[in-house]
Amino acid sequence: MEYFISFDNVYYSYDFNDEEDSTYYENYAVSGINFSVKEGEFLAIIGRNGSGKSTIAKLANALIFPSEGVVTVLDIDTTNEEYLYEIRQNVGMVFQNPDNQIIGTSVEEDIAFGPENLGVPREEMIKRIEFALKYTGLTELRHNEPHYLSGGQKQRVAIAGILAMKPRCIVLDEATAMLDPIGRKEVMSLIKRLNEEDKITIIHITHHMDEVTNADRVLLIDNGRIIMEGTPKEIFIRSEELKEAGLEQPQITTLVNELADEGIDLPRDIITVDEALEHIKPLIAR
Ligand SMILES: Nc1ncnc2c1ncn2[C@@H]1O[C@H](COP(=O)(O)OP(=O)(O)O)[C@@H](O)[C@H]1O
Ligand SMILES: [Mg+2]
Repeated sequence: MEYFISFDNVYYSYDFNDEEDSTYYENYAVSGINFSVKEGEFLAIIGRNGSGKSTIAKLANALIFPSEGVVTVLDIDTTNEEYLYEIRQNVGMVFQNPDNQIIGTSVEEDIAFGPENLGVPREEMIKRIEFALKYTGLTELRHNEPHYLSGGQKQRVAIAGILAMKPRCIVLDEATAMLDPIGRKEVMSLIKRLNEEDKITIIHITHHMDEVTNADRVLLIDNGRIIMEGTPKEIFIRSEELKEAGLEQPQITTLVNELADEGIDLPRDIITVDEALEHIKPLIAR
């Protein structure tokens, strides 16, 4: 297996019939998408609202199937029904609204739901739940009712439920969008650890540019097409194109570029505050 997930010239149309004039409309949400993700990679997908990000996420998880082109997971065509279960077990999805993902009346019960559905034997299931609780720091909250947790804790419950299914890839579709800064940090540090320590492949869809700086690679989507692909540094230096796609480069990148324009000796591809400080401190040292 060269790639964990691969999109080969993928189109997806949300077709609909207009009842009034009984016309059949094609409505392409994504057109001609080509990209691959290697096992263990951290891929970020950015793009304005309606650009096609969620459609890509659903195609990657075999929740929907290409109108044209092919999506493969683990070298298996997602339209191959024989392996549907295997694909969905290996590609876990975390969605935007944590409240829509709660199934159980306790944290523990919620985490058990996925492996239970997979028919995991009881002994093994107990082990997996313990592991998932510990990994996500939820052991103390195991008997709590999920609805009363904070947003960040709810998303950690969602991730724990996926971990209990032992996936090799997790797709987060704007999973931090409804969280406060603390909740966002909790979730981001969790997915960073899953990727770095446990080599779980991550596809992180977000509109927070600061969540992208850690990614190995970034895809910028606009109007259903990939319009830019590269490392975070390669993407964030192109401020004009980002603006045209409805996004903004990180403020720190804008700042160092303005300083560089004034003749101050700073690299233009700085994307984090820490990196900026490293370069600025020697300049002001007395
Ligand atoms: N269920 C649906 N039926 C019809 N059109 C849809 C549906 N879901 C999304 N779309 C349309 O497809 C396009 C891409 O949507 P989506 O993939 O949700 O984008 P994003 O996640 O980037 O906001 C948008 O134009 C959206 O209106
Ligand atoms: Mg979306």
